[in-house]
Amino acid sequence: MKKFLELISEEMGKAFEAAGYQAELGKVTLSNRPDLCEYQCNGAMAGAKQYHKAPIMIANDVAEKLQGSTVFSEVSAVAPGFLNLKLTEKFVKEYLQEMRADAKFGLEMPEKPQMIIVDYGGPNIAKPLHVGHLRSGIIGESIKRICRYAGHEVLGDIHLGDWGLQMGLIVTELKKRHPELPYFDESYQGEYPKEAPFTMSELEEIYPTASAKSKEDAAYKAEAMDATYKLQTGVPGIRALWNHIIDVSVSDLKKNYAALNVEFDLWKGESDVQDIIPGMVEKMKNDGYAHESEGALVVDVKEETDTKEVPPCMILKSDGASLYNTTDLATIVDRMEKYQPDKLIYMTDKRQDLYFEQVFRCARKTGLVKPETQLIHIGFGTMNGKDGKPFKTREGGVMRLENLIREINEEMYRKIAENREMEKEEAEETSKVVALSAVKYGDLSNQASKDYIFDIDRFTSFEGDTGPYILYTIVRIKSILKKYNEQSGGDNAGQAVLREATGESEKALMLETAKFNTMIDAAYEEVAPHKICAYIYDLANAFNRFYHETKILSEEDLGKQSGWIALLVLTKDILEVCIDLLGFSAPERM
Ligand code: ARG
Repeated sequence: MKKFLELISEEMGKAFEAAGYQAELGKVTLSNRPDLCEYQCNGAMAGAKQYHKAPIMIANDVAEKLQGSTVFSEVSAVAPGFLNLKLTEKFVKEYLQEMRADAKFGLEMPEKPQMIIVDYGGPNIAKPLHVGHLRSGIIGESIKRICRYAGHEVLGDIHLGDWGLQMGLIVTELKKRHPELPYFDESYQGEYPKEAPFTMSELEEIYPTASAKSKEDAAYKAEAMDATYKLQTGVPGIRALWNHIIDVSVSDLKKNYAALNVEFDLWKGESDVQDIIPGMVEKMKNDGYAHESEGALVVDVKEETDTKEVPPCMILKSDGASLYNTTDLATIVDRMEKYQPDKLIYMTDKRQDLYFEQVFRCARKTGLVKPETQLIHIGFGTMNGKDGKPFKTREGGVMRLENLIREINEEMYRKIAENREMEKEEAEETSKVVALSAVKYGDLSNQASKDYIFDIDRFTSFEGDTGPYILYTIVRIKSILKKYNEQSGGDNAGQAVLREATGESEKALMLETAKFNTMIDAAYEEVAPHKICAYIYDLANAFNRFYHETKILSEEDLGKQSGWIALLVLTKDILEVCIDLLGFSAPERM
């Protein structure tokens, strides 16, 4: 289905043509002066030079051709040559009718869907999830959903950090505590136990302990490095222990991400591509891209047009060990081989901007991807506390994700239980749903690259630009629809038919609704979930204005009432699709 503005511009273009001017001048935009008109066209201004005419004369010519238009109810040429426009109620209604009949509300599907991989989350095994991982999960999940809704084939990959020194540290500490375990006995021939010799909470305590020890004790650190080496070279006992660490951590991660409505299609990790590295490195050497520099193996990636220093991409350290980027390059090889993606999107803290620039350049230069493969890094800003510094616990420590979520749930529960009659259980469930909207909307409503302040009071408020406000609006619509069905004696809301608007706020709501496909397109193209937030905030405001001015349920003209109900259904459906794309949902009541 064509975009609303396209249709309007076409009509305007025809009028320019009929008046003897170029059709392209008929580009219509949203009004800069909503008090005067709904849309505007500045084509007469643009055409003045070309036609050696005063803009107002051109505007007058065009306006004349639009007398009796089925699209425009009002076309006024105003000095110095603007065309101020209002649309006919009929045209708007018909557009919305078509939207409502379409499964995606008028969003056109691509002729050739792309294969897209979204790399997000990126937690490191055995290290507790903290708020830094929150953004990657929240933004990545939304981007994945947007790409999918836009009609593409999408896979979300968690890309676990499961291969680094942290694994060696854990192994070392376990060995200190339980030297008797068979995993450390290199002559052991039997089967290793099925049960892990630790729980998740022990694991969470072991890592920071080991990490602290290694910083003070050089011998301990050397032991951890040796254990890492043993893991990476495949010593069976260490591999078996590592498998336990992965299993225990992954089930814990799954629980945590599920609570956040974050779902990965692939649970791959750094370890999965290690076998690819030797061949990849050999090829880079043979093709003449990788060369030695101070003992290390590097690929130069600087370009003439660089305004900043872009250091070479290091492939192997001087001791032959691979690095974070070697793994990322090998992961690209793996993904290209298995899925032939057209696009790879990565979500990390923006401090990794330069890093990804290097990796992407290296991948292009060495031919790991096709020239047309798109490589995109979305670097996000820091989540700060009210003091403007990176978010911390009250005691000043790193805030763990679980605790953060718990705090918000509690705050939300307090608000919901305070002035509502709800059973405790329902209040608790509802609080969780609403709290998730608070966190996600609070994050996603900012442009990803910006830092933002995590403000529980503001995020959990039912008023203003917040998740709970959006949910409250949806719940309000649901409740009207439910009452309408009750009083009209049947499931009638779904059958209600749109009517031409009779009031200003009703028309404004319709015009807002009509922007849906344009907005989704922009959110997809620009990889920008915040556009969805901005849109649903406007849409919710437009609805609430209409709602406050209209007595819907007591309206006596049943035809008129049914038209409103149909508009409410469409508004609700669109709001619900949008929040689903942001990764949260609405409760039945709140
Ligand atoms: N595990 C990494 C970290 O915590 C993030 C991984 C991001 N993804 C990637 N392909 N490098 O910083």
